[in-house]
Amino acid sequence: MALAVHASSTGCTEQAETRTAEAGIGDRLASDSGTAPDAIEPGPYEAPRYEDGALVRVPETEWRRWVFLGAGLNMNYAGAFEPETDVFSTVYMEPSAYAHYMDHGEFREGTMTALAIYAAGESAAPLKSGLFADEPLGFEMSVKDSDRLPDEVWGYYTFPGRTNLADPNPAQACQQCHADHAETDLVFTQFYTALP
Ligand code: HEC
Repeated sequence: MALAVHASSTGCTEQAETRTAEAGIGDRLASDSGTAPDAIEPGPYEAPRYEDGALVRVPETEWRRWVFLGAGLNMNYAGAFEPETDVFSTVYMEPSAYAHYMDHGEFREGTMTALAIYAAGESAAPLKSGLFADEPLGFEMSVKDSDRLPDEVWGYYTFPGRTNLADPNPAQACQQCHADHAETDLVFTQFYTALP
């Protein structure tokens, strides 16, 4: 995916002008190992994208640069999820939405979060003990979009395997628990060190 496409589709001309290459992020990382990390500009993926009503999964090259909100270990709240390994959950928020929240204390329309879940690894040199986030187990997103979901406001999306499109899950499967238990506008800020 070319960076120029991101730039033009969001009208972000300033970023387009400062780009030096048309290659995709992956291409640039792979082909130009001498590029300093700060020379790689973030792709403007600030608004959710939909295809035929389904949410387009945000590419990993994008959400990797989002704001890291916090991590959980073995958080089991659905009851049905009993993995054989220990599990890390890591939560990210799209940076412009994060900045808006920090400035205004509310999640703006279009706010996107990503929940990436990993099986814990262990017994790797040089560890004598301890766990680290290893194999990916799952990827979910939430999007605040009251145009699309006037009743629920937040949509909750699951992307199994390499799925790239997802319809919103039924409210009782996801949204209800968030509405009942999350501290701030359906987001579990009580568990995130990066959100006051
Ligand atoms: C029984 C309660 C419950 C249900 C049901 C639930 N969640 Fe969550 N969700 C949580 C908790 C607790 C957290 C925060 C802890 C964590 O990192 O897992 C969370 C965090 C999230 C986040 C990170 C942003 C945020 O809102 O805090 C996403 C994205 C998410 N859940 C998606 C989903 C999806 C998709 C479903 C349905 C398939 C779902 N959730 C169902 C409790 C729930």
